[in-house]
Amino acid sequence: MTGALSEGIHPAEQSKYHAALFDLDGVIVDTAKYHYLAWKRLATELGFDFSEAQNERLKGVSRTRSLEILLEIGKLNLDEAVRRALAEKKNKWYVEYIQKMDESELLPGARECLVRLREKGVKTALASASKNAPLILRNLNIASLFDAVIDGNKVSKAKPDPEIFILGARELGVSPRDCVVFEDAEAGLQAARTAGMYAVGIGKADVLQSADYVVDGLRNFDVNMLF
Ligand code: BG6
Ligand code: MG
Repeated sequence: MTGALSEGIHPAEQSKYHAALFDLDGVIVDTAKYHYLAWKRLATELGFDFSEAQNERLKGVSRTRSLEILLEIGKLNLDEAVRRALAEKKNKWYVEYIQKMDESELLPGARECLVRLREKGVKTALASASKNAPLILRNLNIASLFDAVIDGNKVSKAKPDPEIFILGARELGVSPRDCVVFEDAEAGLQAARTAGMYAVGIGKADVLQSADYVVDGLRNFDVNMLF
């Protein structure tokens, strides 16, 4: 283990895995800031404050559930049609922000990690709750680095349900036990473990309790450790 790796269980005992499944937001790109800007704009329009600390509750959560949490914070009870219109409005603003994104917004080491894995013959999939994932992959110019893309349009159950990862393994044609998941949110790590996969947490070990192993960013992940 190098000094750059945060504490966690060293996976030395692990055999080699055949596939890698990646969350998008917080692992490959930092879109959380754009989600925050759009949700904050909506909160302001609705007449209440929305802090960055409160935004933590929205990470890894679906758009619909994010709006529910936001309205809970604003103590607003709105009917279904209004909620749907608000979610659409937030998404319109969010898409305006991410349309301007380019490769410079890839998180350090993300592209290199994907390239190294593919060179080793490891299959790669994106497994993101975001319905905007295809647009983001195009803007970051990394769509060709994934053998499969499972996004919010393909799943009906949100993480921590394992559906998204099970579907990812199926599309790659591998068994869940041969998969490693890279996730920055607890809900995603729980989903990976429930799916029977090895869960690498991207972030801080004290926060990512469900991870089998934690590293502070893909730039410090040595692919030879698990693949
Ligand atoms: C997840 C993000 O990846 O996607 C969440 O972490 C977001 O914050 C969710 O709410 C859904 O994204 P979208 O783009 O479909 O609204
Ligand atoms: Mg994430």
